[in-house]
Amino acid sequence: MNRPIDLRSDTVTRPSPAMRRAMAEAEVGDDGFGDDPTVHLLEERVADLLGQEAALFVPSGVMGNQIAVRVLTTPGDLILAGRSQHLVSFEMGASARNSSVQFALVDDTDGRLDRRQMADYLDAEEDHQPHIGLIALENSHMPSGGTPQGPDELAAALALAAGRPVHLDGARLFNAAVALFLEPRELTRGVSTVMVCLSKGLGAPVGSLLAGSRELMTSALVERKRLGGAMRQVGVLAAAGLVALDEGMSRLAEDHRRARRLAEVVAETFPDSGYDPTTCRTNIVAFDHPRARDLVERWVQVGLLAGTVAPRRVRLVTHGDVGDEEIEAAASIMSSTRL
Ligand SMILES: Cc1ncc(COP(=O)(O)O)c(C=O)c1O
Repeated sequence: MNRPIDLRSDTVTRPSPAMRRAMAEAEVGDDGFGDDPTVHLLEERVADLLGQEAALFVPSGVMGNQIAVRVLTTPGDLILAGRSQHLVSFEMGASARNSSVQFALVDDTDGRLDRRQMADYLDAEEDHQPHIGLIALENSHMPSGGTPQGPDELAAALALAAGRPVHLDGARLFNAAVALFLEPRELTRGVSTVMVCLSKGLGAPVGSLLAGSRELMTSALVERKRLGGAMRQVGVLAAAGLVALDEGMSRLAEDHRRARRLAEVVAETFPDSGYDPTTCRTNIVAFDHPRARDLVERWVQVGLLAGTVAPRRVRLVTHGDVGDEEIEAAASIMSSTRL
């Protein structure tokens, strides 16, 4: 059988030839001592892209999110967040474990946080309920199908936050920016911290960055060390990250176009799912199916890899290692597998 078409995640890409060359030739130093020039270059470039004073290179998106929670909360705080966000549902309880915080959860089915529920939680502080120490957002919002959120959504959350810290999980912020025809920094204005991943749509093998004020990034450096995320001659990875920024950004619109093609196939093949293909605006197709795991298993047998993100929810993600040919092959597998 040919190699399967892998749409489990945009993290499955392998480094491009230019990345491999850049990694081999990278200028490096010990980043534990702040001596790696390639890491500095990457941190400066990403801080600038995100309109923030400083950025810190971290091994993973989860670590970036967890460092943000560490620097922005006090034990016992509540984090106000959407119930299906990565920080809440896909980090193995890390915020509770690392920072002794709890969550106040609001509906986020369509990718937007329910503003009325947010306002109620914030108001409940007056009724002796725990302090909301942080508001956490996610853009694009993965579980709803990579929903991009514009500056108005952010402005509304910042207004409700009324000066409380706001962290943005921007694992796929660049996808959101491309889908909305905006600069990434237009989607981060006013946040305390923002985390972005290079290892997703942009195609780098490893790496994420946390960005924010210089003061917060000084604290973040300490927390990164505490979590074991200080690396040494890590310019070899930062070099791939710089290439990912050069090569990846201009390709994201293609990933989005291919995801929309799959979204249309899903809507046609599974009309009972109620899935609306026009909600697919970035690189993720997520839809409800009563036998989601069986469907994914059936696809695996015929060479299509997908995933589930909830008991009855299937997810497919496009990325730089799948082109039109693979997408058409996936479309044909999908439309001929009814379950
Ligand atoms: C929205 C979101 N945030 C954070 C992460 C975590 O990134 P990492 O896998 O690099 O830890 C992911 C991973 O898929 C994600 O989808």
